[in-house]
Amino acid sequence: MSHQKILILDFGSQVTQLIARRVREAHVYCEVHPCDVSSDWVREFAADGNLKGVILSGSHASVYEVDDRAPDAVFELGIPVLGICYGMQTMAQQLGGKVEGSSHREFGYAEVRAHGHTELLKGIEDFATPEGHGMLKVWMSHGDKVTQLPPGFKIMASTPTCPIAGIADESRHYYGVQFHPEVTHTVQGQALLQRFVLDICGTRPDWVMGDYIEEAVAKIREQVGDEEVILGLSGGVDSSVAAALIHRAIGDQLTCVFVDHGLLRKDEGKMVMEMFAGKLHANIVAVDASEQFLGKLAGVNDPEKKRKIIGGEFVEVFKAEAAKLKAGGNGHKGATFLAQGTIYPDVIESGGAKSKKAVTIKSHHNVGGLPEQLGLKLLEPLRDLFKDEVRELGVALGLPHDMVYRHPFPGPGLGVRILGEVKKEYADLLREADAIFIEELRNFKDAETGKTWYDLTSQAFTVFLPVKSVGVMGDGRTYDYVVALRAVQTSDFMTADWAELPYALLKKVSGRIINEVRGINRVTYDVSTKPPATIEWE
Ligand code: XMP
Repeated sequence: MSHQKILILDFGSQVTQLIARRVREAHVYCEVHPCDVSSDWVREFAADGNLKGVILSGSHASVYEVDDRAPDAVFELGIPVLGICYGMQTMAQQLGGKVEGSSHREFGYAEVRAHGHTELLKGIEDFATPEGHGMLKVWMSHGDKVTQLPPGFKIMASTPTCPIAGIADESRHYYGVQFHPEVTHTVQGQALLQRFVLDICGTRPDWVMGDYIEEAVAKIREQVGDEEVILGLSGGVDSSVAAALIHRAIGDQLTCVFVDHGLLRKDEGKMVMEMFAGKLHANIVAVDASEQFLGKLAGVNDPEKKRKIIGGEFVEVFKAEAAKLKAGGNGHKGATFLAQGTIYPDVIESGGAKSKKAVTIKSHHNVGGLPEQLGLKLLEPLRDLFKDEVRELGVALGLPHDMVYRHPFPGPGLGVRILGEVKKEYADLLREADAIFIEELRNFKDAETGKTWYDLTSQAFTVFLPVKSVGVMGDGRTYDYVVALRAVQTSDFMTADWAELPYALLKKVSGRIINEVRGINRVTYDVSTKPPATIEWE
């Protein structure tokens, strides 16, 4: 099935991916590509007749600093174009208008007045002035300004400091906004983008995860045929959803390999096995390699060395299992595909998009080079999807909500949450303490939003500190270990705030950990922001 689509050309703004996520939220398929694609490429992309509109993103640069321009073909296809910030400026310049630099940078909240009753802004406003002008509360970030309209355009929006804050040529369906509709600070941003893609471009809102299953299943079947697939299941969201989807498509032709490195959270292995082996009846090879991992980690204190050992060992164990599966036997003819949970942000980054530099955490879990080393073909059924779509798909596939909406967990697992040398004793204590923290985060609800504190935090966990402190328990003196609780709120994991958890929650957690986990007698709360601290302690 082919979807109508929107092309987003990335000029390097920090927030280009947000444009794509917003278009997808409107249930319209879109793709992000670097702004320097050729005109031929654009024509080719449009050749199937499904391209309904183009969005030109913002940039971190000025039109005077860089010579990034939209490929001419964009303006030759006869389809609607929306320019955002730099995108509007380059459109204005390319179509015969004028852009001027300014020493004054406008940054932050602004109120924009709508003009001219354009199709794009009709009926979209936050409030009206006493004179009856529609007003929008928006987020601006720019230095340069359009100072002369290109032929055919009229003013669509203005502010006192930016008289041309929006432009429109309604006959060609070209629009430009100086502000950023893709960020949540622009209150009507989603309405504006939705108006553009649905009404102006006239796309069908047919990008729905529930329906996508069928399409994805058909694609996997076509790609795999009657061959066999191996997938490394970590219990994380991406690999779990990929496994469930592939299993739906090809059933027993899929074998999952689950490696327990001894640094998983409490009951994690059990949960994965219950779900995939128990409920889905998927083929799973579970490898308990905990002793092997802990053996290699003995005496190692340095965080980066620990990471390298865990990563390297993981690849070795996985490769050994994959080699067995490749060889076949036991009713299997041998695997020819390796499946990975690569998602769309990974694809955008590696595709050399202009926003490459701006992009956040890397997919540490996508073990680079493995398919080549193993001589296997690659199957990546989630490569068109954003994280929120992967989650939606997971729920639609019947995976438990708690599994799909889990906080991220680093590949090296508890290995980077036990400071210094990793020992089984430490990992066991940490697992118990962490399970209590997570359980209480799920129990406590915020009165105002009704959400649990687990959902109100982006990542929360416990860190084991290999130091001992003195305490009293009953009549006796204790001399036991310390843990730190860490809970952060962040949208991109590049910067993060520590969460202002309610005292009652902290009290309950510390009380339970000290009473229930023999060996820990002190609990602290980490109140460091990132930067300068990081989210993990190692
Ligand atoms: P930091 O500690 O750098 O973490 O602020 C940012 C995000 O990245 C995760 N993280 C990792 N994930 N392997 C992973 O798969 C790693 O080595 C690793 N180190 C950090 C961390 O959990 C947080 O979400």
